[in-house]
Amino acid sequence: MPVARLKVVIDTDPGLDDAVAILFALQSGLFDIAGITTVAGNLGIGVTTRNAGRLLAFAGRGDIPVVEGAERPLFRSAIQTADIHGGDGMGWVDLPEPAVPPDVDAVAWLADLLMREEPHSVAILALGPLTNLAKLQTDHPDAAHRVGLIVAMGGAVNEPGNMGPRAEFNFQADPHAAGIMFAAGLPMIVIPLDVTRKVRATRDWCARLAAGSPVAAKAGEVIEAYFQSTQGRESRPLHDPCVMLFAARPDLFAVETMRLAIDTEDGPDAGALFPGEGAEVAVAMRVNAEAALELLAKGLGA
Ligand code: BDR
Ligand code: CA
Repeated sequence: MPVARLKVVIDTDPGLDDAVAILFALQSGLFDIAGITTVAGNLGIGVTTRNAGRLLAFAGRGDIPVVEGAERPLFRSAIQTADIHGGDGMGWVDLPEPAVPPDVDAVAWLADLLMREEPHSVAILALGPLTNLAKLQTDHPDAAHRVGLIVAMGGAVNEPGNMGPRAEFNFQADPHAAGIMFAAGLPMIVIPLDVTRKVRATRDWCARLAAGSPVAAKAGEVIEAYFQSTQGRESRPLHDPCVMLFAARPDLFAVETMRLAIDTEDGPDAGALFPGEGAEVAVAMRVNAEAALELLAKGLGA
């Protein structure tokens, strides 16, 4: 009997590692993708929305809707990372233009979808700041409580941050949104830097992608652009793909439940986590990195 695929929405700010995650979701056939909602994060909302459409056009999946979401964090002003992701958010990798214009109002679209589908049958794979999801929780709590699972990349528990001393980008970009989601009591797994820094692309691994399917080769080009923006590194962490890998194979990860609070002050360590304080949150703290990389390569078609 065929196994039902997990129905998902990808909430994202592409972004190079977002792109690898989306290409994996498209190529692997492991997910039934109901739509891609976009959020301002790595770059502004116009850029991230266009990139979601470009990735779908490349994969010939213009049938999957792209729905534009929050153009700024809840209370802070936006941070942009064109230095890492390129001014186009895709490291200037060649991609077609979107085949279909985006829809608008990701939060209303998500609420409608969750009210329409069977309760707890849709997972949200969150690859960017949690602004859209916090608005969903605040403005449409009944719909939010019908979500099956949220898997969200963000934060650093025992690891140094990649923005402040202990602050990671997605949680620093919108710490208030992350705080709302911690307190929401929804089924949610956080995937922090403690895990994502273990799942790394080397040059050899990229060569394997280059020799694989057209989608794998495009993912290889995207990771190559990621190497270009961070010279001198032997490998690059695959942050956002870990969300997809968790959704597909949670057994590859070890999850711990811990209390987490978040720094929402406007300082350099905004978004830093305070373990031991705040709401109970499930956090993936360890990963079988070798098996995760193998799944990622195979799913991309390499
Ligand atoms: C996260 O921040 C973004 O730059 C990446 O796309 C990823 O979602 C890693 O800290
Ligand atoms: Ca991202």
